Amino acid sequence: MGLRKDFLWGGAIAANQVEGAWNVDGKGPSVADVATYKPNVDVKDYKKQVQITQDSIKQAMATKDTTYYPKRRGIDFYHRYPEDIKLFAEMGFKTLRISIAWSRLYPTGEEEEPNQAGVDFYKAVFKEMHKYHIEPLVTLSHYEMPLALAQKYNGWADRRIIDLFVRFCRTCFTTYRDDVKYWLTFNEIDSVTRHPFTSAGIIPDQSDNLLQDEYQAFHHQFVASALVTKICHELIPGSQVGCMLTKLTDYANSADPRDVLASFNKNTMNYFPADVQVFGRYPELILNYFKKNNLHIVMADGDLEILAANTVDFVSFSYYMSMVSSYDENNLTLTSGNTVVGGKNPYLKSTDWGWTVDPVGLRISLLQLYDRYHKPLFIVENGMGAQDELTSDGKIHDDYRIDYFRSHFEEMIKAVDAGVDLMGYTSWAPIDLVSASTSQMSKRYGFIYVDEDDLGRGSLNRYKKDSFTWYQKVIRSNGEDL
Ligand code: BG6
Repeated sequence: MGLRKDFLWGGAIAANQVEGAWNVDGKGPSVADVATYKPNVDVKDYKKQVQITQDSIKQAMATKDTTYYPKRRGIDFYHRYPEDIKLFAEMGFKTLRISIAWSRLYPTGEEEEPNQAGVDFYKAVFKEMHKYHIEPLVTLSHYEMPLALAQKYNGWADRRIIDLFVRFCRTCFTTYRDDVKYWLTFNEIDSVTRHPFTSAGIIPDQSDNLLQDEYQAFHHQFVASALVTKICHELIPGSQVGCMLTKLTDYANSADPRDVLASFNKNTMNYFPADVQVFGRYPELILNYFKKNNLHIVMADGDLEILAANTVDFVSFSYYMSMVSSYDENNLTLTSGNTVVGGKNPYLKSTDWGWTVDPVGLRISLLQLYDRYHKPLFIVENGMGAQDELTSDGKIHDDYRIDYFRSHFEEMIKAVDAGVDLMGYTSWAPIDLVSASTSQMSKRYGFIYVDEDDLGRGSLNRYKKDSFTWYQKVIRSNGEDL
C-alpha cells in the first residue's frame, strides 16, 4: 500500500521559537517573551523550567534582554525566512507548519484593527512558500498569546478571550484565504493542565483555584476552536481545520489489572480535549471527573450546541515518547518526557533529556487514534532533541537523528498499511530552534544546524546536517527509500 501519492511531507515550527524580532514592527509581547533560559535548573525538571509568577513577569518586562529570554531572539526567522524556506524547498517539502503570532497582529489582543506590518509579514512568508509549491499548515495558537491578556484576564480562564481570539482568527482567514487551506486551532490543547501559562495564559499565582481555572480555560478554548472552525469553513470554502493533541501514549507497567487501570485513566485524560473537538461533546467520564473534583465549569447557553455543530475535519498530533503507569508510583523509575514526568519503560532507551525513544509507540498511537476517531490523521510533530557538533569543515554527522526518524517512519508506514488514513508528516523541527520547555538552543531538532548557542552567541549561519540529504531522499521516494 504505502503512503498516499499526495502525502504532505514537511516540517513544523512555531513563531515564538523561530521568529525573534519580539518587539519589532509593532509586535506586542507574548507569553513566550517572558520565558527564561534557566541554566541552573535541571533540564529534566520541566515544572521548574516553565515556572512563572507575577513577579517574574514584571522582572522580565523591565528588561529588553534577549540573552536569558531566548524566545525573544529565536533564530531570526523574521529576517531570514527566504533563506530558510529555500532550504526547506531543497529538501522537497510539500508542506510547512508555522504558527501566526497573535501579538504580531494584535499587540495586546484588544485592538480593533490588526497591525499591518504583522499582517504583511505572514503574507510575505506564504508567498515565499508558494513560490516553491509548499502548502502552508497554520497553527492559530501555539504557546504565544498576547501577554497583556494573561495579565489582565488571567488568560483563557476568562470568557472574554473567546471573542478576542475569534477576531484574530477572522483576520487570519480573511487575509490569508487564498494562501492557506489547512489550519490547526490550539497546539497541544491538552497541555493546559501541564503548563497553564504557556498554554492558556493562566498565571498560577494569580489564580485562587488553579484547577478550576484550567478546566474553565479548556472549555473556553473548545468553544473558541468550534467557533473559528465554523468561520473558517464559511470564509474559505474547501478549507480543513484540525485539532492538535500531545499524544502521550501510556502503557501499563505490568499486566496487574491495577496498573492497566492506572494507564487507562492516564490515557483517558490525555484524549479528553480531542474527544470534545472530534465528537462535539464532553465524555461522560470527564463530566464525572469534574463532579468528583468539585469543578464547576461555567457554560453559556448555546455552548454545547456550538461544540456539537462544529467538529474538526482531521486529527493532528505530536508524538515524541511514551511512558508507563502503575497504581503505585513506587513501582516506577521516573523519567521526563514532553512536559510530563512518568514511569520509564525498561525496554526503551532515552535521549539526554530523558525522553524515551519508542518508534513502535508511534504505530500504536496511530492505530489508537484512528480506531477512536475515524478521522484522517496528521503527524504534525515528531523528532528528537540532541546535542550536535559542528565540525571545523562545517558538517554535522547526526546518524542518531537519522536512526530516530528512520525507525519512526518504518512504524508509521506499517500503521498506514494497517489501514490508517494519514494525511502527512511534519518533523519537529526541520531547523534548530529555541526549545519550548527549556529555552535552550543546544537541544537541537533540525536537519539544518543554526550557529547559535544557549546565550545567543554565534553567526546564525545555517548548515546542512547529514540528515538533510537523508530526509530529502525520503521525501523524493515518498518514504520508500529510508
Ligand atoms: C511540543 C511543542 O510540545 O514539543 C513544541 O508543540 C516543542 O513547541 C516540542 O518545541 C519539543 O519540546 P521542547 O521542549 O524540546 O522544545
